[in-house]
Amino acid sequence: MKREIHIAGQPENKIGLEKLRVGVLGMGFMGGTHTQAWQRGKATFNWPIDVELVALFDTDEDTRDLHANRFDFQRVTGDWREVCEADDIDVVSICTPNFTHWEMAEAAAKSGKHIWCEKPMATSMADARAMVSVAQEHGVKTMLGYNYMKSPSLLAIKDLIASGHIGEITHFNGIYLEDFMCDPNVPHSWRLTKKGGGKGALGDMGSHLISMAIWLCGPFKEVVSRLQTIHTERPDASTGEMRQVETDDQFSALGTFESGALFTMHTSWLGQGHKMNLGFEITGTKGAIKFDQERMGEFQLFEMDGNSEMSTNGYKTVLIGPYHPFFGNFCPAPGHHVGFNEMKIIEVGAFVKAILEDDHAYPNFKDGLLFETAIQAIQDSSDEGRWITL
Ligand SMILES: NC(=O)c1ccc[n+]([C@@H]2O[C@H](COP(=O)([O-])OP(=O)(O)OC[C@H]3O[C@@H](n4cnc5c(N)ncnc54)[C@H](O)[C@@H]3O)[C@@H](O)[C@H]2O)c1
Repeated sequence: MKREIHIAGQPENKIGLEKLRVGVLGMGFMGGTHTQAWQRGKATFNWPIDVELVALFDTDEDTRDLHANRFDFQRVTGDWREVCEADDIDVVSICTPNFTHWEMAEAAAKSGKHIWCEKPMATSMADARAMVSVAQEHGVKTMLGYNYMKSPSLLAIKDLIASGHIGEITHFNGIYLEDFMCDPNVPHSWRLTKKGGGKGALGDMGSHLISMAIWLCGPFKEVVSRLQTIHTERPDASTGEMRQVETDDQFSALGTFESGALFTMHTSWLGQGHKMNLGFEITGTKGAIKFDQERMGEFQLFEMDGNSEMSTNGYKTVLIGPYHPFFGNFCPAPGHHVGFNEMKIIEVGAFVKAILEDDHAYPNFKDGLLFETAIQAIQDSSDEGRWITL
């Protein structure tokens, strides 16, 4: 059997751009995934333009040297403003800690650069709103790094829900557990301060779960929540002295979407035994869907129609294949799986399509503001001990 690669998402170059010249800000975990996505995007989507990796910024000299060589950037710098204001750069990837996003986005937008920014958008609602305004004012395209909603599985689930396959949604039960902060000796970092991270597990991990819930089921109507910090002090990375933790380790929330459907969710970075348990069960009037990112190449589907025999009906496993969104851009064979970095490539594909076709990228800064509003409502509900109506 001849297996064909199906190229989906190929953009038209409606604005006559010759090439995209890229600057990457921050070269940790996310900087690496953005850069690999920039490198692989042209082949994956058959882009009608070339991509040039022009400049890499990081505060750490060793990081700069290692990755400049590894990824073949034309230049490196310890000055992010130089990248944001450069004449030979069209687009920036913001992959630095949360507290830097607003300042970098502002400088890049003012200099006419399109912006692919990591989540969460910002550390405060004021900064998030300012990011929306400055991008709108300068007419630049924006995209936020909510990569999990770009996986073929999640896009397939989104299509099933949108087509009414499982009927009206009645309940979203979401969970996101990782165990990377379980050890109380994990050092203090920017993620644990209100100024640096903004929020703790809520902003870092909960932002993925909350955005996914909103993308699949619609905006929140009301919410009540409880945030908790279990390890209230952690050692400073260089001195070992104990420092106060200002942000949450975990939260649970209960609420309703505007549709009236109920949601329940829990997120923790103290989730013993879990590496990437971002998942949900969505129940509808005609069926249900279960997903767990630790098994991102499959989802569970229950269909009530034709399943009335109680002794045999139940959930079935659907393995992702080339008939699901974007899988065929990478692999022609079903069940062979794609990975984390492929989601980042699908994300950059959506972003570049929006740039070349002068269209809306999803989720852009404006969409992100809806997520930030829901995240803030969960924080406020716990702080104030009351239901919040959005
Ligand atoms: N989309 C996702 O799945 C995902 C996953 C992890 C992190 N993130 C987000 O990506 C961003 C970066 O996270 P990461 O995990 O890549 O972090 P990281 O610590 O691995 O990398 C951050 C890099 O930024 C550099 N940096 C630049 N300016 C800095 C400054 N002022 N202070 C400290 N470091 C500075 C650091 O040297 C480091 O190389 C955060 O906003 C985070 O929430 C997203």
